[in-house]
Amino acid sequence: MNDKERVAKKAAMEVSSGMVVGLGTGSSADCFIEALAQRHHEEGLVVQTVASSIVSMQKAQRLGLPMMAIEHLNKLDYYVDGADEVTDDLVLSKGQGADLVREKILATAADKFIVLIDESKRVRQIGDRFPVPVEVIPFSWQLVVKALQGIGGQAVLRPNANNSGLAVTSYGNLVLDVDFGSLLTAEQIDTTLNAMPGVIEHGVFRDLASVIYIGIDGVVEELKRL
Ligand code: A5P
Repeated sequence: MNDKERVAKKAAMEVSSGMVVGLGTGSSADCFIEALAQRHHEEGLVVQTVASSIVSMQKAQRLGLPMMAIEHLNKLDYYVDGADEVTDDLVLSKGQGADLVREKILATAADKFIVLIDESKRVRQIGDRFPVPVEVIPFSWQLVVKALQGIGGQAVLRPNANNSGLAVTSYGNLVLDVDFGSLLTAEQIDTTLNAMPGVIEHGVFRDLASVIYIGIDGVVEELKRL
């Protein structure tokens, strides 16, 4: 078992029968979906799951996990996802994929939000390793770029995977990758982007994670809110 599988298994072992469980997106979330499906089949664990993306929905469906549509959700016990960056005070950046909107809705709705990472994802400050992804409604992108420049952010439109056009999110929006340097705190970035017209969602997840499971050389360390 590798470190990614180990943290995913730990998160899956904490699910109990009757829970509604949110499934994140990415390679860490994939390992969690597999571990949860294994418990469902081998132990008869009774769960309902809700996916944060079409790829996670397809994976869960293929593995035979019971699923519900996000539209029907009125409570979420547990949400498990990866992250691209994590600070010591449990601020995350996410969204190197294209499913930020659902990811943040589920992370916010969950009673418990578990984040699965390895040591490489730990940063001193959000933005140290990746620019902050900002999902924008397509017709607003130039105005949002200008507004971001006004607060010291340098934004570029994200290209698609083979660089032949632009990346388009699951909801048909565009993504700006924004470099804020070290000008603003995560709190300032979060509150500014939350209030910016044209911005649908962004990748700073603050005050949402309950615990971070970090896979390090065969052991799982936990980072909790102080
Ligand atoms: C998906 O949009 C992202 O937020 C992922 O959760 C993040 O990129 C982590 O992915 P990995 O688990 O594949 O590193």
